[in-house]
Amino acid sequence: MKICNSFQFGDVEAYEFGYGFIVRPPMNVFLYCIDDILVDTAQPLMQKAVIEVLRDKRISRIVLTHHHEDHSGNAAVLKELKRASVYADPRAREKMRAGFKILPYQHVMWGRPGTLDVLPLDAKVEGDKYTLTPVHTPGHSEDHTVFLEENQGWLFSGDLYLADRIKYFRSDEKFGDTVESLRRVLKLDFEALFCAHSPSPSNGKELIRRKLHFLEDILGEVEDLLEKGYEKKEIVKKMSKEEVTFIKLATMGDVSLARMISSAVDSIVP
Ligand SMILES: [Fe+2]
Repeated sequence: MKICNSFQFGDVEAYEFGYGFIVRPPMNVFLYCIDDILVDTAQPLMQKAVIEVLRDKRISRIVLTHHHEDHSGNAAVLKELKRASVYADPRAREKMRAGFKILPYQHVMWGRPGTLDVLPLDAKVEGDKYTLTPVHTPGHSEDHTVFLEENQGWLFSGDLYLADRIKYFRSDEKFGDTVESLRRVLKLDFEALFCAHSPSPSNGKELIRRKLHFLEDILGEVEDLLEKGYEKKEIVKKMSKEEVTFIKLATMGDVSLARMISSAVDSIVP
């Protein structure tokens, strides 16, 4: 089952892509066009639809929030098609040039991205009318970057937000870095949160604040248990009772609530 929708938020064009192997897509992906700039490129399994909707668009620059396949997935093909330059955080460069390993669930959900050379991000990405400022926000991945349009109050947030009460982390996500990145972003001025999976044209800062508070509450609980003398293993077990077993099994343990709690403990006791 495939999903392809378009939305207009003022001068921001948003395109939503979903791919479900037989069933409904488990998670849809958004990419955004502003001026001649494209933010992210969606999942490789939706390549045909992505090319189709962007066929008549003038795109000279592509910026990536991070290297994950549902964001960088069509960068190589769009780079060729549009003769565009692709920019990302330098930490994404090596991974994208050499190609990176993805697990079976990622093949089924998103597909395998092609390799490509990307350019390091400049301090500003200037469009005809709008300017994006990259802000490094590690945690979800070490190369994760959000893009702020200061005058309009738009934040293109990649996977920094996703939801206020998240229930799981990937194995490579860092809890402490995520908290720091949310705090950094709260110092910026914005209203619209153009999340790569769940956009909100208003109330964006409040959504980020809610997620930060949720993660800080988890940290507080972990700290209490550590003070009471609990070991990491016991804390993870105690705080992972609402684990969604299907997700843990389907991702071969790569994505789980236990991963999130474990990373929260690591952020206090490295
Ligand atoms: Fe991601």
